[in-house]
Amino acid sequence: MTTANERSADYPIDPIFLERWSPRAFTGESISEKDLFTMLEAARWAASSGNVQPWRFIYAHRNTAHWEKFVGLLVPGNQVWAKNASALVILVSNSLVKRPGSDAEVLSPTHSFDTGTASGYFALQASLMGWHAHGMAGFDRERAFVELNVSKGYTVEFAYAVGRLGDPTKLPVALQAREHPSTRLPLKELAFEGLFQAASTAKA
Ligand SMILES: Cc1cc2nc3c(=O)[nH]c(=O)nc-3n(C[C@H](O)[C@H](O)[C@H](O)COP(=O)(O)O)c2cc1C
Repeated sequence: MTTANERSADYPIDPIFLERWSPRAFTGESISEKDLFTMLEAARWAASSGNVQPWRFIYAHRNTAHWEKFVGLLVPGNQVWAKNASALVILVSNSLVKRPGSDAEVLSPTHSFDTGTASGYFALQASLMGWHAHGMAGFDRERAFVELNVSKGYTVEFAYAVGRLGDPTKLPVALQAREHPSTRLPLKELAFEGLFQAASTAKA
């Protein structure tokens, strides 16, 4: 029903959902504070349980004093391409929450989920602006916690490499083959009326 970016959706969604994807070939150009903050602004408007807004964003622009430290937190397989990004953003979330009427902090069951929602908004806004945000779990969370001075009670969640699409032939050969928008499982394997269905029993 909607086609864009070599992808095809079965229902008439907005093309932005197909246009967002995660390339690894980046130009290495600089990104303005305004563009990066426009993406963060979109993330800020995500919904969260009790509107506690547990997300925090720690970022480094390319060619700044913080850049090498951020690149150095990534696993080698991510460094090889993310070193050409324009900005790196690390998302952390406050795992503690105060219930209404209480000053005691308890573990939030939704802080990661809430921050994941903000993360999705960030990536969609990047895509709307002609940038790409490629998410990464492949980085050293323990080192990030210490080296980025994250406060106790916060969880290091996720990282984004933000960049403009570059020349894929400059990537290592193994990554060149993966440099295209991916597809998705069919909805019938994901959505069930009334009862969960394991993959083997899902309706054909
Ligand atoms: C939680 C999470 C962790 C990811 N970690 C990495 C990573 O460490 N390195 C990488 O190259 N891509 C990583 N990705 C990107 C996914 O591989 C990519 O989003 C997925 O294949 C779907 O492709 P698309 O984003 O182009 O639609 C990650 C994505 C998510 C959401």
